[in-house]
Amino acid sequence: MNMFTQDQLKQMVADAARDEVLKNMAPGGVLGIGTGSTANLFIDAIAPHQNHFAGVVSSSQASTDRLKKHGFVVLDSNTVTSLPMYVDGADEIDPKGHMLKGGGGALTREKIVAQLAQSFICICDASKEVGVIGKFPVPVEVIPMAQAQVTRELEQLGGVVTLRKVKGSDQVFVTDNQACILDVAGLKVSDPVSLESEINQIPGVVCNGLFARRKADVLLVGGPEGIRRLVY
Ligand code: 5RP
Repeated sequence: MNMFTQDQLKQMVADAARDEVLKNMAPGGVLGIGTGSTANLFIDAIAPHQNHFAGVVSSSQASTDRLKKHGFVVLDSNTVTSLPMYVDGADEIDPKGHMLKGGGGALTREKIVAQLAQSFICICDASKEVGVIGKFPVPVEVIPMAQAQVTRELEQLGGVVTLRKVKGSDQVFVTDNQACILDVAGLKVSDPVSLESEINQIPGVVCNGLFARRKADVLLVGGPEGIRRLVY
């Protein structure tokens, strides 16, 4: 069996996603693009083929900056009614294609772009595959004035809540939407669809990192045996 590093696996799935998109998406369409280290590798892999697309819609300022550096036409999501495909990573994915996302803090924009897409192609290495979602804390994006109240409500659901800080600093992490993120550990995610809705009902919550209502359609996952392609 091959022993690939995690970075090699991410590169392999990024290349596989490039091939999947070029094969299945007609020229002249608009592609949705996600956020994170795996999505970054995908952006770099698809960059030489950017003329295949009329443009792209991005899920974060970080991805937009990277896409623009490559010369992509980055479109405002308000100017498109539908995207044939959206390619993005995940922090966890269960056997039904429900995902947990938001490790990079881009969950709300990711959900908006995913909602526009006819097909969500999740790309990740095999370490992200789980039986039940919830080992990774559930990120919840919150309007700052509601932070304390939402924290109490999430604690009532059984969560252990941490206000996200910028890595290696004491500064509060601020999202592209000028909101903050509460990372909620210890939640029992036996029904991700219900929990996603329940958290979204708390006033002040912008969005949470459970992608269960709009889950993945295709998973490209890299492991020791190479790339596996799953359709949900
Ligand atoms: C960012 C995300 C990412 O898709 C997720 O964190 C996976 O990132 P990586 O590819 O770096 O492991 O949801 O908000």
